[in-house]
Amino acid sequence: MYVLGISGSARDGSLNTALLRSLSEFFPKDIEFEVVDNLSVLPLYDQVSEDENVPAYLAELRYKVGRADAVILASPEHNYSFSASMKNALDLLSRPRGQSVLAGRLVALVGAAPGLYGTVRAQAQLRQVLHATGAKVLDRPEIYVNQADSKFGCDGTLLDRSARELCAQLVETVCNSDVFVRW
Ligand code: FNR
Repeated sequence: MYVLGISGSARDGSLNTALLRSLSEFFPKDIEFEVVDNLSVLPLYDQVSEDENVPAYLAELRYKVGRADAVILASPEHNYSFSASMKNALDLLSRPRGQSVLAGRLVALVGAAPGLYGTVRAQAQLRQVLHATGAKVLDRPEIYVNQADSKFGCDGTLLDRSARELCAQLVETVCNSDVFVRW
């Protein structure tokens, strides 16, 4: 089984990338878990060029999502929504029409923010967009790590006990899901 984590932040010291990386300690050893955190290198979606001259990094990301049994998204909340780089990536992954690597894919959401709401608004909007792509989004557990700048150790370890419990539940749910619809 292969699980791909995608961070919507390429920022050094990103809380969302740290949250994704911290999931790795909850996966059983026989499950491959990889985190991608450089969505900002993707081209901006442009319908004219969607079928031709696909940049290598986009082709690689499409391949990784396409072979993933599950994808876990972590996005910053920017002005009450998820990051522009995450939206761009989802648009690129959802095309060309009829070849979306998101359709039928099991997707789980997590998020972290320094504020009180822990990306709750961003994740609500992510669900709406993922609905359009045909992805199968897990309802629960919901993981909104708030006041997150005080919840990671210097080495990126997630310290908060209740967040750790939710992360363990999420990994267990992903690993035992029967929503592995192949397209
Ligand atoms: C933010 N931030 C933010 N936080 C939040 O909880 N709700 C919000 O609406 C916003 N809006 C917002 C807009 C812009 C332009 C920036 C730059 C930041 C703060 C944001 O959550 C914080 O920078 C996180 O640390 C970003 O996530 P990463 O990069 O640490 O993963």
